[in-house]
Amino acid sequence: MNTAVPTWLGAIAATHGTPTFAYDLDLVRQQAHRLRQALSHPRLQLLYAIKANPCPAVVRVLLAEGYGIDAVSPGEVALALSLGCPPQRICYTENNMTDAEAADATAAGVLINCGSLDRLQRLAESGVNRAAVRFNPDVGDSEHAYTLTAGPLTKFGIHHSQVAAVRDLEQRSGLRVVGCHMHIGSNVLSAEAFRAAMRVILDAARGLPHLEWVDVGGGLGIPYHPDQKPLDVAAVGRAADELIAELEQHHGRPLELRLEPGRFLVAEAGYLLTTVTSVKTNPDGRTYVGCDTGFNHLIRPTMYGSYHPIANISHPQAPLERVDVVGNVCESGDVFARERELPQPQLGDVLAIGCAGAYGMSMASVYNLRPLPAEVAYEAAQIRLLRRRRSLSELLAELEDQA
Ligand SMILES: Cc1ncc(COP(=O)(O)O)c(C=O)c1O
Repeated sequence: MNTAVPTWLGAIAATHGTPTFAYDLDLVRQQAHRLRQALSHPRLQLLYAIKANPCPAVVRVLLAEGYGIDAVSPGEVALALSLGCPPQRICYTENNMTDAEAADATAAGVLINCGSLDRLQRLAESGVNRAAVRFNPDVGDSEHAYTLTAGPLTKFGIHHSQVAAVRDLEQRSGLRVVGCHMHIGSNVLSAEAFRAAMRVILDAARGLPHLEWVDVGGGLGIPYHPDQKPLDVAAVGRAADELIAELEQHHGRPLELRLEPGRFLVAEAGYLLTTVTSVKTNPDGRTYVGCDTGFNHLIRPTMYGSYHPIANISHPQAPLERVDVVGNVCESGDVFARERELPQPQLGDVLAIGCAGAYGMSMASVYNLRPLPAEVAYEAAQIRLLRRRRSLSELLAELEDQA
């Protein structure tokens, strides 16, 4: 199968070479609209989980659309601030942060969403008077165990049954818990999973009298595989509205609904362009198509066994052939696709690996000492280089600096 891909990808590969991440910024904007349109809560604040793709051009599109930022590290907070995001629109969902990191975020006016009681306690002791709490609702869902972030085997969040301890801490200190948060996993395609988890944390939130907002997380899934059904985001929104309405009645005042997706906004807008550098057929009949990129640039297939669509943009009409698409990293797990039907790839063909806009470049490394890919944007029918591919001498110079 050759997945339909935009025609401008060929121009990007011809101008900027490969490996290159290409981002359709118009599509990012459309997704941002789509999500907002699907949700009807009267007090809605959408945040972008910047970890999915911190490329400044991508982030700027979402900030211009009124999104705030969900950050998980000092680096992400610093990037959001440097791109002009007001601190009140940043939520720092911490996970084993240091006291120094907490002090810096507080000094910058950024609210910390605590994932443990001891962090909440230390915030209170340091005089912080507003924080949020991430609950583990014990209900999770995700594409892979490694991206499941709720339930018994996760390091994330305060167990929902410990809400009394949170309240106790509030009563003993000047700290007010103004936000209640969950994030149950990544690439969730079931609205029912969101509803079940929301039910749990919103029940817990009855015990938090100073609440101003409820954040039901990111994790909104996208269909990577043609057989997957898209998530019904409107159903997630309706469930949130209904459950928050109950909580509003309990507290006797309006609350804000927050969501913080990453993948949903940017995954489908990104492609990893790569050139075929080798085609070999083994005696067992298996054909390996080797590329000039690998799991160092797109780790999802190796780490999570994820499916990504792949298209041959050089010869889309070639006869179909069943091949394994593999990378140039010196590891057996460096496989993008097994037994994938593609228009027969030839040496020098450019392949476009789709749905690579989230957790592609942001998880990329220089493993095997291969420089990071270039990043290029397509917007309003224009192509522009965002970040050039680093050269080997720059990479080596960085290694020297570390010595
Ligand atoms: C706290 C938190 N919020 C939001 C997200 C974004 O997830 P996704 O990109 O699946 O929407 C993540 C991802 O790990 C996360 O940990």
